[in-house]
Amino acid sequence: MPPAIIVHGGAWDWPDAEDAPKTEYLRQAARAGYAVLCSGGSALDAVEKAVNILEDAPLFDAGIGSHLNADGIVEMDAIIVDGTALDFGAVAGVQRVRYPVSLARQVMQRTPHKLFVGAGADALAAKLGLELMPNIAFVTPHEWQRFLDKDTSGPSDTVGACALDAQGHLAAATSTGGSPLKMPGRVGDSPIFGAGAYADSAFGAASATGLGENILRALLCKHAVDQIAAGQDAQAAADAAITHIERRFRPSMAGLITIDQQGRLGFAHSSPKIAVAYIDANGHLHAPEHRR
Ligand code: GLY
Repeated sequence: MPPAIIVHGGAWDWPDAEDAPKTEYLRQAARAGYAVLCSGGSALDAVEKAVNILEDAPLFDAGIGSHLNADGIVEMDAIIVDGTALDFGAVAGVQRVRYPVSLARQVMQRTPHKLFVGAGADALAAKLGLELMPNIAFVTPHEWQRFLDKDTSGPSDTVGACALDAQGHLAAATSTGGSPLKMPGRVGDSPIFGAGAYADSAFGAASATGLGENILRALLCKHAVDQIAAGQDAQAAADAAITHIERRFRPSMAGLITIDQQGRLGFAHSSPKIAVAYIDANGHLHAPEHRR
């Protein structure tokens, strides 16, 4: 089966000057994930790799570059979903883990649990030998200035990926620093199974971005994969999910990416912009500028 991958770097509005550098990072992430798939790696390996690249990229609200909370602390959330086992691992409120999505994968594969939060999650990362950093190392000058300015616009730049591997397995992953100046302890949609990400290898996979509170209420990614299960392709399912969230929770300021079992890709958004890149089942890289 020809592999395919789609990645996103947020749904909101941002200055046009940021479009090109965001797109360049997204291309890199899509290429890296696709290289994993082409060398026989799994869909899980591919989405983890792609999201790790975006967690390191300072332009996105995940890992380095995460928004600060109201206390000036970075608290990060992530999830990874294995569509074949219908299993997931997730973390919320981590403060020191360089790659939160990799900790989420370790939660899924090396613990009997599904979701770790806060100090316990950071301690688990240390115990498992994952890379830790001081909280200040995640803070970029741009985000520090946003904190000083009390600028709450966004969240804009949650990252995520969905992939289909050569064996027909689907996976999804999402990672975020949450909303700017959020109340300490606030958790959005990203680490919640069915809201921030969902995958079922029989049908499709999805990863969400945008304002988490409404995505949680809509269970946006589960809704999208349910549309695929009902016979829609990936693009129609993404469109239907955004129609659903806009109908119930307008203005939803949401976006999502999707992939179906045949490797067809989709994305949709109710926000002014969404940042995406994808490599289709023919091996072609696309990074369309997308705004309403
Ligand atoms: N969608 C990311 C968040 O609201 O935390």
